[in-house]
Amino acid sequence: MSPTALVSACAASASSTSPAAISPSSTKAAALGLHILEGPIMSKIDQVRSFFETPQGYLVGSQFNIRIRIETVQEFTKNLTFDRVLDIGCGDGSISLPLLARSKRLTLLDVSTNMLDLARNKIPLERAHDVDLINRNFVGANLEPESFDLVLCIGVLAHVDSPAAVISEIARIAKPGACVVLQFTDRFHFWGVPYAVYSAVYRRLLKQEPYTLNRLSRRQVMRLCQKEHLNISAVYRYGLPPLGTSRFAGQDERYKMSRHVFGPSYRNRNRWMGNEFICRLEKA
Ligand SMILES: C[S@@+](CC[C@H](N)C(=O)[O-])C[C@H]1O[C@@H](n2cnc3c(N)ncnc32)[C@H](O)[C@@H]1O
Repeated sequence: MSPTALVSACAASASSTSPAAISPSSTKAAALGLHILEGPIMSKIDQVRSFFETPQGYLVGSQFNIRIRIETVQEFTKNLTFDRVLDIGCGDGSISLPLLARSKRLTLLDVSTNMLDLARNKIPLERAHDVDLINRNFVGANLEPESFDLVLCIGVLAHVDSPAAVISEIARIAKPGACVVLQFTDRFHFWGVPYAVYSAVYRRLLKQEPYTLNRLSRRQVMRLCQKEHLNISAVYRYGLPPLGTSRFAGQDERYKMSRHVFGPSYRNRNRWMGNEFICRLEKA
């Protein structure tokens, strides 16, 4: 998702999903004639669910990035066939449903009911019996151990309570030798600095982000993967066009900009400039 799209979509979502009730919250405030704005206290997972229950903000704003993700997953899994595929945080299913042709069974899991409904509507009728839909938080979904030979976790780590718990759970449910495709954004890389500043200012001034994205570094994610014996076998590294580009460039132009700088999924160039990581890992 482009940073701009996320922040603006977050703003829209915050006002529509976190209704605030006005009540005199303390005697001191009441004595001063002040009213404190109080909203229901939501856990992070509820906030994430609530944000993605309006999927269009993400899906429309991030089309070009989703296209890069689809193509990279295809490249990383090319010529492989799978018994069981799991797509964690599947969104509308655009990334994993094309893999169905090479898979016996696909599990689509998402905490957002509306995202999952979009994915359900895209399942080809003749394969409907081969697709399981799970509307739950991945951590806590209690999937069978060592049961999947391909696990996708794309665009999810920034949103979860604990990235360490997610990576450990992926390792638990993946078969030995399974392929895992994991995406994350390195928020400490220079390419992400303008976004980090913009996001911090936005949060401080407008306080409208429903939740704070996890600030992950490449080193941190790689350490977590190593600890779980998930060994890296390929990486596509790229960057999204700079903030503000969406004002004058459409999805197609932004796709071309990114591909022009970083190359196609099969021939990555200028990798040092990229802070978006799509990694293929293998479970030992
Ligand atoms: C940024 S979208 C990415 C969707 C898709 N994977 C893609 O790359 O286009 C994140 C998705 O993950 C889901 N999600 C976030 N945290 C989750 C969790 N803990 N368990 C299950 N789904 C989660 C959201 O509802 C949302 O659909």
